[in-house]
Amino acid sequence: MNLDEIIKNTIIQNQAPIGFDEFMQLALYYPHLGYYRSGLEKFGEKGDFITAPETSDLFGFCLAKQCAQVLTKDDSILEFGAGSGVLAAQVLFELGRLNCLPKHYYILELSGELKYRQKQTIAKALPELLNRIVWLDKLPEDFNGVVIANEVLDAMPAKRIVQQNNTFYELGVGFDQNEFAWQVKSEPFSDDKFKLPKTLSNEYKTEVNVQALAWIDSIYDALNDAVVLLIDYGMHRAEYFHPQRTNGTLRCYHQHKASDNPFVNIGEQDITTSVNFSDIADQASLIGFNIAGYATQAMFLLSLGIDEYLLTETDENKRITLAQQVKQLVLPSAMGESFKVLALSKSKSVKLIGFKEQDLSHKL
Ligand SMILES: C[S@@+](CC[C@H](N)C(=O)[O-])C[C@H]1O[C@@H](n2cnc3c(N)ncnc32)[C@H](O)[C@@H]1O
Repeated sequence: MNLDEIIKNTIIQNQAPIGFDEFMQLALYYPHLGYYRSGLEKFGEKGDFITAPETSDLFGFCLAKQCAQVLTKDDSILEFGAGSGVLAAQVLFELGRLNCLPKHYYILELSGELKYRQKQTIAKALPELLNRIVWLDKLPEDFNGVVIANEVLDAMPAKRIVQQNNTFYELGVGFDQNEFAWQVKSEPFSDDKFKLPKTLSNEYKTEVNVQALAWIDSIYDALNDAVVLLIDYGMHRAEYFHPQRTNGTLRCYHQHKASDNPFVNIGEQDITTSVNFSDIADQASLIGFNIAGYATQAMFLLSLGIDEYLLTETDENKRITLAQQVKQLVLPSAMGESFKVLALSKSKSVKLIGFKEQDLSHKL
């Protein structure tokens, strides 16, 4: 059976539309066939999208500087969803240069194919450090150090909801003439964890990420003394529910083209929703995390001195290439403002240098 048929059978067995989160879970993570579980090229020019570490080594070098401020002897790093492994290689390279290598670099990756790629990337770039990398199948216990998740929250299956006559309903996935189609569920959607504005227009559609909040709970339990760096595209609540964002934040990426149709190219396209950082911060505070900073990606990277790497590059050709990459990471028209960094801390109380130039925590 192909993935379309598997999802259709799931809907038939359910005898009702399935939630969009269940659809997204199957489309992205179904063993061997889901987008992140298959062998398809995803990252970079030949894939469907380019993430910050794929754009420039300087992204990982800046993150390494932030880690170096926090890591104490015997601390480790834990990266979620490590993609091609390039961020791990960048962070370890720079931490080596700063003489601040972590005890272990743990990677928690759902995809067997990506684990293989990560091993290859790190073995090629830093063979001498491969023995510090440990691939985990479940969360560690009593973890001390820094947790990194770049573009992971946006890949977690989200629910879609629609407002009709001042009540929110879940938008499920069913069929119309054997084609996937949105179908409004009959029960109103309600969950106290999400503060949904009362002022939105009729038929306003948006997303809520129940799984992302459960994930925050699970990492809190796994940590002893740690800082968590969550980097993703998204915004605080007031911006998320902007009156003009009437069709939500759902986006699909296939061969560098964006669409809002998750019902095509199933298993061959990425499906994402933007992160509502206020929801994440509220849940994190509720369970005991401290909010250690919130900034745009641009200001976070500038606080960590991304421009200094440019100034110290003596080879002119390399400097020109690096300048192009830095523009991509920090310009508002590129990734600079649509991406944010949210830092959470448990027990560790350091004023993080990544938020030296900007901390927008009050907006959350
Ligand atoms: C858009 S990719 C980002 C990859 C990489 N971090 C980068 O920046 O290039 C999203 C990744 O998040 C992973 N992911 C999603 N949910 C996860 C979870 N609960 N635990 C670990 N990884 C997860 C996916 O498997 C996928 O590898």
